[in-house]
Order: sequence, then C-alpha cells, then structure tokens
Amino acid sequence: MVQQRWIRWPEGARRGTASAGQNGPLGFGGDYNPEQWPPEVWEQDVRLMQEAGVNLVTVGVFSWARIQPDPDTWDFEWLDQVLDLLHAHDIAADLATATASPPAWLTTAHPEMLPVDRSGTVLSQGGRQAWSPSSTVYREHSLHLVERMADRYGNHPALAMWHVSNELGCHNGRCYSELSARGFRRWLQGRYGDLDTLNRAWATDFWSQRYGAWDQIEPPRVAPSFSNPTQQLDFARFSSDALRDQLRAEAAVLRRVTPEVPVTTNFMVMSHFRDVDYATWTGDLDLVSNDHYMMAHDPSAHVELAFCADQTRGLAGGQPWMLMESSTSAVSWQPVNAAKPVDQMRRNSLTQVARGADAVCFFQWRASAAGAEKYHSAMLPHAGTDSELWRGVVGLGADLRRLAEVSGSTVRNRVAMVVDQENEWAAELDAHPSALLSARGTAQAWYRSLWDAGVGVDVVPRGTELAGYRVVLAPMLHLVRDADAAALAAFTRAGGHLVVTYFSGIADEDDHVRLGGYPGAFRDLLGVRVEEFRPLLPGQEVRLEGAGLGAWTGSLWSEPVVANGATVLATYSDGPSAGFAAITRCEQGGGSAWYVSTELDAGGRAAVLDTVLTASGVSAAVTATAGTEVTVRQGEGVEYVFAINHTGAQGTVEAAGTDLLTGRAHPGPVSVPAGGVVVLRR
Ligand code: GAL
Repeated sequence: MVQQRWIRWPEGARRGTASAGQNGPLGFGGDYNPEQWPPEVWEQDVRLMQEAGVNLVTVGVFSWARIQPDPDTWDFEWLDQVLDLLHAHDIAADLATATASPPAWLTTAHPEMLPVDRSGTVLSQGGRQAWSPSSTVYREHSLHLVERMADRYGNHPALAMWHVSNELGCHNGRCYSELSARGFRRWLQGRYGDLDTLNRAWATDFWSQRYGAWDQIEPPRVAPSFSNPTQQLDFARFSSDALRDQLRAEAAVLRRVTPEVPVTTNFMVMSHFRDVDYATWTGDLDLVSNDHYMMAHDPSAHVELAFCADQTRGLAGGQPWMLMESSTSAVSWQPVNAAKPVDQMRRNSLTQVARGADAVCFFQWRASAAGAEKYHSAMLPHAGTDSELWRGVVGLGADLRRLAEVSGSTVRNRVAMVVDQENEWAAELDAHPSALLSARGTAQAWYRSLWDAGVGVDVVPRGTELAGYRVVLAPMLHLVRDADAAALAAFTRAGGHLVVTYFSGIADEDDHVRLGGYPGAFRDLLGVRVEEFRPLLPGQEVRLEGAGLGAWTGSLWSEPVVANGATVLATYSDGPSAGFAAITRCEQGGGSAWYVSTELDAGGRAAVLDTVLTASGVSAAVTATAGTEVTVRQGEGVEYVFAINHTGAQGTVEAAGTDLLTGRAHPGPVSVPAGGVVVLRR
C-alpha cells in the first residue's frame, strides 16, 4: 500500500493558484535537462516556465556523468545554480537521484556490470541505462551518488520530492548476465529454501531438468527448446524484484538523510511495457507517478490512456497520483512519430486529471537540439515560442490553474477490473494452446466496452479489497492464487456480480495446471466444467446465439462448456465447440458469476455488460453523447464532472454546475464543444 505523502510544495510554488485543493496546486511541468544547454539559456528557461505556469520540473535524471565526471571529482556547482534559479522563480524541483545512466568511466572499469540479453549479447555503453540490476558495483556507486545528492540538496528550498532513478527497467528489465544468474540463484534459495522444493515447483522431472546443485541453475537464456515455464515465471518475478531492490536501496538512503521529503519513481503503466510487477513496489513509495506515451497508430489510444490512468490510480490505492511524463506531440521511438494536435494534448492531459492525476508533466521542457531524442516533442519546441505548440502548452498551464481546486479529490467507482502482472506473464508464456492470446488485450477490450457505456471502472491489482464494488471483471485470470480465487468467490457470495473470461483459473502460483477440468479454480464458482480447450485459428470466428443476449461472434478461443449448476445464456452455433455453452451465469448467494468462454465481439460484450450492470443496479454516473468521456472526482461536499469530447461534433453532458474552465454556471445539460473539455463543479 502506498504511504501517500504528496509533493512538498515550496511556498513560492503555491503562489498564483488562488483556490488550490487539498494537494495544493495541480503540478505542471516536465523533465528539465539544463546540462544540454549553456547557462545563458537557463535564464530564458525559467522565465518561460513562469510564463507557461510551470510549477514543477524533474531535474538531473541523466546527469551522473556531469555530476561525477570521474571517480574522484564531483561537480555540483551547475546544479546548485539551476536549483537556485528554479527556486528564485517559484518552481519546485522533483530532483532525480541521477542514477539512471552510469558514466562511461564506471562501465569501462567494470564491464561485468553491463546488462546481457537472453541470447548472451552484452549491451554496451553509449545508449542509456547500461547496468545490470544485479551488479553490486553499480549498486555501491549509485548509492554513493544518492548519498551525495541527498546531503547536498536535502535542505534546498526548491526540493519538493525525490525521483529515484528513471523508469527502472526501461531498457535493462531483464538481464541474463553471470551476475544476474548468481542473483537469481540467491533469490530462488530465498523462495524455495531447498532444491527439492524448487524441483517440485519447477516440475523438473519433465525433460530431465532436475537440479542437483544451485549453481546448475541458469536464467532462462536462449535454449534449444522451450524453457521451463516456472523458471521463466520466476525469472520475471526475480527481475522485477531485482529492480525493486535498487529502488529500496536508493529510497533507504533518501529516507535516512531527508526523512521529510517524499519519494517516488516513475512507473511505466503503458500497454507496451510489462517487465515490472508494480503492485509489489507501491509500498516503497510515498506517491505513485507514471509515464504514459500513446501509440500513434492506435485509433483507440485515448481509451488505452484512460485504462492506464485508471490502473495507475488502482496502484495508488485510489489516491491521487502524478503523471510524470507524457508527450506534448510526437515521440521519437515509434516507426512513424505522428504529431499530436494541440487540442488532443489538452484532452489527453485532462483525461489524466479526470482519472486522478494531480500533476501533468511532460518529457521534456525544451526540445533537445542534439542526441537520440532531438526529434521528440517538448513543451518548448525547436520553433520556439512563436508556435502553436507553445501556445497550447501555455493554454494547458492556464487550464490547470483554473482546475486547482480538484487536487486531492478522488475517483470512486462501483465496478472494478482485477489485473495482475504475474498473471499476464504466465498467461502469455510460450508453448500454450494459442500464441494469439493477450491478457492485457482482452482486459482492454472489456474496458473499452465500459468506456463506451460511460461506466467508470477501477482497474485494481490482485489483493485489492473488493467489498465496496457491485461488479468485478476478471478477464483471463489464468494464473490465480488460492487466496485470490477465494476472494472472488467471497465477493460473489456476498452479493457481488463477477464476470470471468476464458483461459482463467487454469494455473496455480507455480504455473501448474489445476486438475479435474477447466476453469480450475473457478469451476465451482462458475458452475461449469470444460474438458479441453478449442482455440480458433487466426481470423476464424464462431457464432454464438442466446435467448436473452442476442447473436454475437467470438474469436481467438472457444471451449466446449458444460453447465454444472450454471444457466446457459448463449451457445456456440458453429466452430469447434458447436452445440456447447459459450456464456453462462451461476447464481451464488445474492450475487452471480458469469463465464464468457471466447473473445466476444463488441456487441456481445456490450450485451453481457448491460445485463450484468442492470442486475447489479450500476449505471453511468453521468450520461453524455457518444464519444464524450465522463468521469467524476469527488471532494468534500463537492463533485467535479469531467466531460471530454473526443469527436468532431458538439456533444452534451447531462449535468449542471459551474464550468471551472470558463467560470460559467450552467443549468444543464451542458454542451461540450467538438474536441473540447468541460469540468463542472456541482
Ligand atoms: C521515457 C524516458 C524519457 C524519454 C521519454 C521519451 O521512456 O523516461 O527520458 O526518453 O521516454 O518518450
């Protein structure tokens, strides 16, 4: 659970925001890399930051080589000057520990600290993050740096929070080096105690894999055939923990030297990153922060963004969190880096606020003139201040000042979706019945249906208390621990409504199949039994028909479901499972447990959700025209209704109140301009 200490706003940074909420002003700013520019530019930077309403910048992320140019030389003067300048201009610093990228002198002296990929290729210096999470040399040098940073800046008036490393695991999330092999063995000894237990958990009697000594065990490097699945899963767990150890070690130094300063590290809750189980990290942080970048080719990128924002809030235990990085326009690492229209930047930024972010920050403040990210957008583009982008950034800063009173308010929904990183790793291991399955993909499809229906959902990690919810979705919860299966059963028996989808309940924590028929852990709860999987070929679709639910199609997967206590709501009318049940419902106490045994099309998902939501008495908190996203943040005695119109036509939201963005009072319903945003206080 997150400890929740918010940004320690210096007095000056609060100034200029008249009616700030509980968490002070909404944060606005970005990564600031002054080391890339001569000092003359810094003066202009801080002046322009003020002009844009920037109140928070992240400094020092990639400045280790500048701060410590050789093992015995420390150069803090430039950073002193930068922090003083920021403070003089009422801009708070989210100060990085600067450990993200070790300098060349360190990797040259200790090449064994470099990360190694699965095929044994050493990843060299010259990019960034060239360190193995299992290197003690890296650990020692990085902690020394953290200590120096904390000693030097712990009392600096600009210091508002610490930023440990940067996107831990971004490029070195899986390291297969010799050092990592040793670390992995130690981790396994901690988990299993003795080799017999490990051999059992890894089922090493299969393919003659039995281990007789710890040092026979390797990371799952490229092998002649599929690597042992439990070994792969444990290596993913170990790798996430190894990065967390770095976070913990840095945070421990910071908390010893500056106990009053909150600590964060920027997560990467984005669909294309999956190397870290963040739910196991939040207890080490004072506040949760996230980086989010959209994939330009995805027409539903704004829904993926909403999902990730809701998931970040779930990691923050429902409390406010901060958006540490996003892009004002194009990024520089996709095949085609499409520019983002300014009004989209505004909508996307305000979606993050609508879903609980109390800070909106970007990578980066000033666009680099050189280096690998010189074509990445920034708040201040190459073109300078005479640009549409700059005017958009200034406009967004003004919007955030007008919204300051929402800070500290929270989002509470009646629908939850349980997601679990460990499950995603397990569900998508190789040598499975279908390589086409995606746990996150199916979760996002169901999320999309709720988004379309305007129903808010809390995307929560496993283990979250479910008692307050009416509906819980468990999409492809393939690997499930006994306790989590029991929690879902208890939720249902207490009157909740649960939707479980295909390939769920199959494996236990060691990735061993739960025997006796699928869906293993959920067989009794769902009142169904399945003898075998019948996955569908790429592009293959099957038809489903049901009395009350309509006719829909399924893809990717089917199962010959036999009801064993459940009511059949739809049946496969063709395909490999023709004649068998496809969708079922089992009454449990006051609640019900639904099973959907295929990747249902959008109409089918909408029909299922409509029935489940109606049965549970849940509807959209506020309705709006299609394509207008609505969320509600709740403060003390006040609600903030965010309506964000993603369409090119004017929309309407069925609510009344004062629009904080314009100051105008509306009796309701309220028009939401094409591509625009309305935030009503009511
Ligand atoms: C993040 C990173 C930033 C910058 C950005 C570009 O992964 O933290 O330093 O590289 O991506 O999109």
